[in-house]
Amino acid sequence: MKVITVAGARPNFVKIAPLLHGFNSRNAESEKAGRKDRIESVLVHSGQHYDSSMSDVFFRDLNIPPPDINLGIGSGSHAQQTGKAMIAFEMVFEAQKPDVIVVVGDVNTTLAAALVAAKLRIPLAHVEAGLRSYDRSMPEEINRILTDAVADFLFITEKDAEINLLKEGIAPEKIFFAGNVMIDSLLKLTKRTEESKVLHAAGLQKRNYAVITLHRPETVDDPAALASVLQILSTLQTQIPVVFPVHPRTRARLDALPDEKNQKDLKGVRLLDPLGYIEFVTLMKFARFVITDSGGIQEETTALGIPCITLRKTTERPVTVTDGTNVVAGNDPAVVLQYCEKAVRGEWKAGSMPPLWDGKAGERIVRILCERFLTSSEAPQR
Ligand code: UD1
Repeated sequence: MKVITVAGARPNFVKIAPLLHGFNSRNAESEKAGRKDRIESVLVHSGQHYDSSMSDVFFRDLNIPPPDINLGIGSGSHAQQTGKAMIAFEMVFEAQKPDVIVVVGDVNTTLAAALVAAKLRIPLAHVEAGLRSYDRSMPEEINRILTDAVADFLFITEKDAEINLLKEGIAPEKIFFAGNVMIDSLLKLTKRTEESKVLHAAGLQKRNYAVITLHRPETVDDPAALASVLQILSTLQTQIPVVFPVHPRTRARLDALPDEKNQKDLKGVRLLDPLGYIEFVTLMKFARFVITDSGGIQEETTALGIPCITLRKTTERPVTVTDGTNVVAGNDPAVVLQYCEKAVRGEWKAGSMPPLWDGKAGERIVRILCERFLTSSEAPQR
């Protein structure tokens, strides 16, 4: 069985790690048992994220081998990025002739690879399928809908995803409730937070700081939304130390602000460069609470049991609200600051771990792919 796994942007790397490790373990098992069946795994990086702090550090932290192929597509408009990636993926997929292509998440790289796989009639697996915010102004929502429409195996992280997919006419036999690969990585690496020096370096004490992350165009590219965030930060920094690892997109927007505004609203905020995976998980794990517009961080805080205030109007991950520690707060400073005060006082729902977020999602996905594609008579029957 030859499988191409595709990744391109920071959150993708966290999701592919358990799959690549799962392929290796499966091969080791087969070898130990004296069988000949093997998974030939090829990792293709689109190059959507290319800075060392947005890519290489994740490969190191998550112990992922370097990509077999890096397409180097880089940044650009949506059409440029998706188009360049499609042209490059087509050449690779035609040359490699895999049995199955695995894409993860909802970034432009995901959609580009999915469209090419579908047109070449190569079976496509989508890991983290079926999430819907029902907000089509988010580019990720378009990427999710279209990727799911052409996928053959849809691996879901929560039950709501199944309802979404069935509504869109996806055949139930294509849907597999596998759990959450992002949480596989988290559970595996949380122990290593003990080694991290990030709290000390930022002058922070456990449980006595808030973490904020922002990178979505609708939060940082829209001047009114960014002004709301600055208003929130200017008050919050008087109540609790605030640490803010800044995504490159956000850094560009903050740098463009007039100096007086920047200095006043962000004076007490510890602005950091983008962090590696272990350092960022450490910051989340010991925080009083987290404020974010990310998707994955809503899930990671739920798994860690840390209060999360999501600066968006919708979430495609409702289980983090129903079962977890997340609230979807919008970006009205008065509302957000009320939530912050509750979190500072420690008045927060406890939350529980959603079903199948147990560190074994990668294993389940690899097993299902092997059952379908590893056709050797010597393959184990499960
Ligand atoms: C992308 C994903 C988003 C995901 C996010 C995680 C899409 C549509 N968006 O958004 O879903 O949550 O990744 O980070 O795919 N840049 C650098 N260095 C890099 C990469 C980017 O400086 O290594 C800068 C460039 O100026 C670039 C900008 O960041 O133009 C945005 O990068 P891009 O990949 O277009 O989108 P993200 O905002 O990172």
